[in-house]
Amino acid sequence: MALWSTLTETINHYTGLSPAAFFTIVALMVVTYKVVCSMFVAAEDYVAVKKSNEFVAREPVQLGDVTEEELRAYDGSDPNKPLLMAIKGQIYDVSRSRMFYGPGGPYALFTGRDASRALALMSFDPKDLTGNIEGLSDSELEVLQDWEYKFMEKYVKVGQIFPNRNNNENEVEASKTDGNESQENITEGIEDSK
Ligand code: HEM
Repeated sequence: MALWSTLTETINHYTGLSPAAFFTIVALMVVTYKVVCSMFVAAEDYVAVKKSNEFVAREPVQLGDVTEEELRAYDGSDPNKPLLMAIKGQIYDVSRSRMFYGPGGPYALFTGRDASRALALMSFDPKDLTGNIEGLSDSELEVLQDWEYKFMEKYVKVGQIFPNRNNNENEVEASKTDGNESQENITEGIEDSK
């Protein structure tokens, strides 16, 4: 109590204000300080926001046919390249979901790859990071189909994996199981060129 009366006397002596008026003014100053601070973003935050906007603003660029090896370059390791990911040979630009697919993101392992098998099996196992959908059950193919619809709806398709010697077998297998559209297109292309 003695401490409180010393405090109030000191406040009154130095400011000429009653303790109630003094504490009200202090509270108002704190609130004003907080409001003004919240109106300005810290410089480093501003840079981070600007950087992420730059990524979002980039328009998807059509890539055409690429090999699986060429697709690897779009795995997020080069910040100047878009993030690309393929499902059933169709390549989508997933850069707008950088928080999922960018470096450090939970699904970063899928970028630069055809992730068909991993998605069908809901697997993060590196051995399933392939477009080879051989031996999948009907229900797993259905899961994959749902993912494909989701990607078709959400992302821009920018190309397709060109079947090279190594994955040609898988592509043919894929077309047997689900009438793979890319294979049909490729077959049409071959027929056109005849
Ligand atoms: C513990 C299990 C899991 C949880 C809690 C989880 C949670 C989530 C959540 C909250 C989202 C965001 C959905 C949205 O806002 O659209 C998401 C997206 C996604 N998940 Fe999972 N997930 C899990 C497992 C998996 C597995 C096993 C896979 C595949 C192997 C997977 C693949 C994906 C993909 C590809 C997306 C992004 C879809 C897009 O681009 O919009 N997730 N997940």
